[in-house]
Amino acid sequence: MIITIDGPAAAGKGTLAGKLAEKYALAYFDTGMVYRAVGLEMILGGYSLDDTAKAESLAQGLTFPRMMALSEYPDFRSLAGSKAASVVAAIPGVRKALLKMQQDFSIRPVFADGSPAKGAIYDGRDTGTVVCPQADIKFFVTASPEIRAERRYKEYLQKGQKANYQEVLTQTLLRDKNDFARESSQPAKDAVIFDTSELSAEEVFDQACEIVENRKKTLEK
Ligand code: DC
Repeated sequence: MIITIDGPAAAGKGTLAGKLAEKYALAYFDTGMVYRAVGLEMILGGYSLDDTAKAESLAQGLTFPRMMALSEYPDFRSLAGSKAASVVAAIPGVRKALLKMQQDFSIRPVFADGSPAKGAIYDGRDTGTVVCPQADIKFFVTASPEIRAERRYKEYLQKGQKANYQEVLTQTLLRDKNDFARESSQPAKDAVIFDTSELSAEEVFDQACEIVENRKKTLEK
């Protein structure tokens, strides 16, 4: 079974994906990691984010183990890292170079320890539209920019990182503008949409499980 969860930053995609992955024993691919990895390579190499050719060549050379190693760096999820990821994700050549790596995961999904899984759950922006248009279930998770900025702001503080709410909100709006300028980031036509502004993580999970259970019954027939 393949499940995709798309939507804007800090809408609750990762929380839902993690819970579903655990309940249904699915391997999890947070596809934002591929763009964060290329963005961080640009920062570490001291390249200007305008250097499209460099970003493309780094994307072409990215491997899964290198991405996992980069994910250990503090800047992988910092404000600077998020900005770099958003900039490189807007480069068509970068997206093209990173597509196969994401799609291959649905053919041979593996858990974090490398053992094989019977299915996969993706989270990102275009996983239901471009990466896995054949997915069995597609969710689109969203929430208002203010609520998402507040969640990110609290996350930064919890991690002991300095943050300013207004700055996080400005960054959230800017990332939305960048990330949703692409047609592929719009919800897939067959996606189920959850607005988590008014729903708790538990409520979203319960509703999603009901959909998964129904779909499983059809798949088993
Ligand atoms: O989900 P995230 O915040 O970790 O994503 C980092 C960046 O990568 C974000 O700016 C959007 C981009 N992204 C994308 O364009 N397509 C995806 N499938 C996943 C993420």
